[in-house]
Amino acid sequence: MSDRDTPLDGGDTVDPPRGFVDQANVTNERIHEEFDEGWPECWERAADLLDWSEPWTKVLNDDDAPFYEWFVDGTLNAAYNCVDRHVESGRKSHAAIKWEGKLGETRTYTYQDLYREVNEFAAALRGLGVEEDDVVTLYMPVIPELPIAMLACARIGAPHSVVFAGLSGKALGTRIERADSEYLVTCDGYYRRGNAFNLKNKADDALLKVDHDVRSVVVDRLGETLPHTIDDADRDYHELLDEHAGATVDPVPRSAEDMLFLMYTSGTTGEPKGVEHTTGGYLSQVAWTSHAVLDLEPADMYWCSADIGWITGHSYIVYGPLTLGTTTMLYEGSPDYPERDRVWDIVERNAVDVFYTAPTAIRSFMKWGEEYPESHDLSSLRLLGTVGEPIGPRAWNWYYEHVGNGECPIVDTWWQTETGAMMVTTLPGVDPMKPGAAGPALPGTDLDIVGSDGSSVAEGESGYLSITRPWPAMVRSLYDDEDRFIEEYWTETDDGWRYETGDRARIDADGYVSVLGRVDDVLTVGGVRIEITRVESTIAGVDGVVEAAVVAGANNMLYAYVSTESGRMGDDALRDLINETVERSIGTVATPLRIVFTTELPKTRSGKIMRRLLESVTNGEPLGDTSALRNPESVGELQAAIRDR
Ligand code: WTA
Repeated sequence: MSDRDTPLDGGDTVDPPRGFVDQANVTNERIHEEFDEGWPECWERAADLLDWSEPWTKVLNDDDAPFYEWFVDGTLNAAYNCVDRHVESGRKSHAAIKWEGKLGETRTYTYQDLYREVNEFAAALRGLGVEEDDVVTLYMPVIPELPIAMLACARIGAPHSVVFAGLSGKALGTRIERADSEYLVTCDGYYRRGNAFNLKNKADDALLKVDHDVRSVVVDRLGETLPHTIDDADRDYHELLDEHAGATVDPVPRSAEDMLFLMYTSGTTGEPKGVEHTTGGYLSQVAWTSHAVLDLEPADMYWCSADIGWITGHSYIVYGPLTLGTTTMLYEGSPDYPERDRVWDIVERNAVDVFYTAPTAIRSFMKWGEEYPESHDLSSLRLLGTVGEPIGPRAWNWYYEHVGNGECPIVDTWWQTETGAMMVTTLPGVDPMKPGAAGPALPGTDLDIVGSDGSSVAEGESGYLSITRPWPAMVRSLYDDEDRFIEEYWTETDDGWRYETGDRARIDADGYVSVLGRVDDVLTVGGVRIEITRVESTIAGVDGVVEAAVVAGANNMLYAYVSTESGRMGDDALRDLINETVERSIGTVATPLRIVFTTELPKTRSGKIMRRLLESVTNGEPLGDTSALRNPESVGELQAAIRDR
């Protein structure tokens, strides 16, 4: 294959392995046409994967576009669909959650265990005063209490807002404040590379900046390792469970359009956007894609290595697999701790059937070497998936051969926080794969690649990826900001409304989409354009970071200048956390070549960071006029830090 070294260049096609197709959930070769011909009623097939308390009367209401409504008048409860119905259908002793902790601990929750704890915690939340439609903020690492709290919220109709535990107290505070959230569930701390980190302190700091009262529940994750103070207003999670032992709470029937959760993403302006997802449409499409794309069935051991704090974790660790009654794995640790074969060790020990990860992880595995996967028996694997950024043919082929042994299809799934569920991907039992191209639009969705004038570009040309039909899992609005919702995402055309994804892509003669990167990037690194402000706001959100400025060096690589909280300069764990957070929220291409810690960034008197000066420092060039600087002494420190290497 001559194109292996040319990332992003869709070339040869690879047919889905026969052994896979023979058992696949979806093998109907007419499925794309059928969905197309029967649109929008085709989406009833997705909704039919769920149990509804009241049926819908209309599949799609587009009277008030782009504020669409799906499965109008239908009612259902997400927690009932993820938990109760599996218990009722006689699968209560089937494993729902299998957790692998940072120190090698494991815990298994059967569907019955999950039922009990979700009910008890739902009763506890009610006892604290949580009512239907109250937003509950969750700030925890990947521990079972996080999905349990999500489901407990869903049970009583309280939307959750999960904030990634790697984000700072400041970021948490902003999200609590904006969502008017009066309840927080967090934990004392967590382990990173074997060290205990205090999360409760961050949460306490966050609350100092919030104007309204917030009641907190604290999970004791670290026990004696990290004694923490429980303030008078706080409640201990396990004590609450004891108080409500054996309690059950009827699942609250929610209208299909009621909010299931809020998820904040960092926007281009750095102002977080509260993406609203609903109960009926979201759950339907997430269930359908878990069934048709991830090919999940109840008997599967399924592992998605994302953090639950991101959308991937919401849709494809929690809601999708549990709706289908699958066993979902939760992994709290890092892929290379204690050893670089950690991931393959987990796959082998648990006989994982389906594995879903990100290209950034695959590229690390590649860098570490094939001896790590090869030292384990990975024959349990049936299907592999990726999400988050383009996977070039080289990483694709490596994943296919060294992890999948040429026997597992790869689904390269393109989607976004805002799309809620997968949108562009092959169906592994139907469509051939093209390494480097994600695939065709999912059945029931439609897209177009347009130029800056809004008209479709020619086949093979790159342009803006836009979605031309509504879909069930779509973002319904931005919390408290309908104007910004329309402004950020929608364009009105002669044919109706077009959703702008903000990605650049091209499409080939077979309708396969290759995603090239974000549109509003200002820098091209390694052939991929990167939006600097997004890198900056991501780094600035990391706990321990005060401010970040990112510039490109003459070598076209990114350099991050980061001012830290006192005592964190030179802290390698902070460096790791920054890299990991950038990787997870943007992608490896955006991870800086160097992170330079500093006490202060050079600023003008009006407080603007002098990027021009930072570029000169990066490139070792003369500084030019520095009279506008408020803190000239900061420059010498940076020059010394850069020279040090
Ligand atoms: C990028 C993650 C190429 C894209 C689910 C998108 C991808 C952004 C792919 C959303 C893929 C996601 N190929 N690029 N398979 N999947 N992206 O909101 O730029 O964290 O717009 O959602 O990731 O990131 P988000």
